[in-house]
Amino acid sequence: MSDVNEQAIIEVLRGVRGPDDPQDVVSRGLIQGLQVRNGHIAFTVEVDPERAAHFEPLRKQCEDAVFDMPGVLSVTAVLTAHQEAPTPQKGGAKGGMEGGKGGMQGQEDTGQQQKKTIPGVRAILAVASGKGGVGKSTTAVNLAMAFARSGLRVGLMDADIYGPSVPKMMGLSGRPDATPDGQKVLPKEAFGVKCMSIGFLVPEDTPMIWRGPMVMSAIQQLLYEVVWGELDILLVDLPPGTGDAQLTMAQHVPITGAVVVSTPQDVALLDVRKGLNMFRKVDVPVFGVIENMSYFLCPSCGHRAEIFGHGGAQETAGDMETDFLGEIPLHLSIREHADAGTPIVMAEPDGEYAKAYQKIAGRLGEKVERALAEDAVTAPRIVIE
Ligand SMILES: Nc1ncnc2c1ncn2[C@@H]1O[C@H](COP(=O)(O)OP(=O)(O)OP(=O)(O)O)[C@@H](O)[C@H]1O
Ligand SMILES: [Mg+2]
Repeated sequence: MSDVNEQAIIEVLRGVRGPDDPQDVVSRGLIQGLQVRNGHIAFTVEVDPERAAHFEPLRKQCEDAVFDMPGVLSVTAVLTAHQEAPTPQKGGAKGGMEGGKGGMQGQEDTGQQQKKTIPGVRAILAVASGKGGVGKSTTAVNLAMAFARSGLRVGLMDADIYGPSVPKMMGLSGRPDATPDGQKVLPKEAFGVKCMSIGFLVPEDTPMIWRGPMVMSAIQQLLYEVVWGELDILLVDLPPGTGDAQLTMAQHVPITGAVVVSTPQDVALLDVRKGLNMFRKVDVPVFGVIENMSYFLCPSCGHRAEIFGHGGAQETAGDMETDFLGEIPLHLSIREHADAGTPIVMAEPDGEYAKAYQKIAGRLGEKVERALAEDAVTAPRIVIE
């Protein structure tokens, strides 16, 4: 088990500065969104988008310095932008998802955030968590299955560019095809759900080293350069936490609503508050909280064990004046089916776990409809293209 921690990483980064810079990267406030997961480190280097190429050597220096630390297994340092690059000429963005700067940036940041809709996509549901490893991706794929089983046209976008897990959980691999003109990418499909993930574009088990493309640019390409077609709902599996990638996404993408997934532990629940506050700050409606790994039902004796405590998410939802959407038990078969590439809602559609997801999807479906109806009254949707 690696014991490298955030503080140690910050200390090392304090030793990094460009040849002509009076201050190190930490003092200049360039290091953001530091995430440490079992020796796998990710952070962003915030730069002026106009000068991204200039900053590439500094990004590399940061990455190398952290990689040399004992206990570090992989480092992902990403150049990212405070503000967006100017809007490119229409049609100028080439397809091909692994490169280029700011290809599909939305509108210029005018202070008044403008959100670019995705043609044909009726609603976007963001699945978020304040903390990593709480089962956000498992929840997202199973909710996608549940929506599809109830007859909706569903898409699933894996925005977790640091640790994409949708391909594995949906049993998909290989590179997606491009449209004949090479301008856009076709999503892959599993169980009737259209899927897109950065994981399709890099080999599995390869630590993802971002060599320059910016985080938001990647996410925007995954959203806007993909031929989603007509969708009733597009689920977005966000990266864990409340860092820049999440915030930028919440500010720029027309999210109909967000759900926050949590386990019942106090520490996870503390982060739920941060997640809820983040969405509120950027005026994204929060549909509620889902408690995952809520309890364990012993398959042989039927005993219900509340391993991480129980009911904490419901209480937090109440405190934070948002809805509690339901609970998903902890069960080996949920994990096994996810690992095997067939989410449990599809593998055991009549089982009690599928029913738990189905129930939550039903509640969310109602909330999506209500939000769309309110949206239509207060701010009629502008149809683009
Ligand atoms: N209800 C559940 N019962 C049993 N195992 C579960 C359950 N939910 C998730 N898991 C397992 O827990 C692990 C973490 O889940 P998952 O990858 O969905 O979490 P995450 O929040 O998306 O993590 P990350 O922060 O790494 O993106 C996986 O191995 C998954 O199969
Ligand atoms: Mg995940």
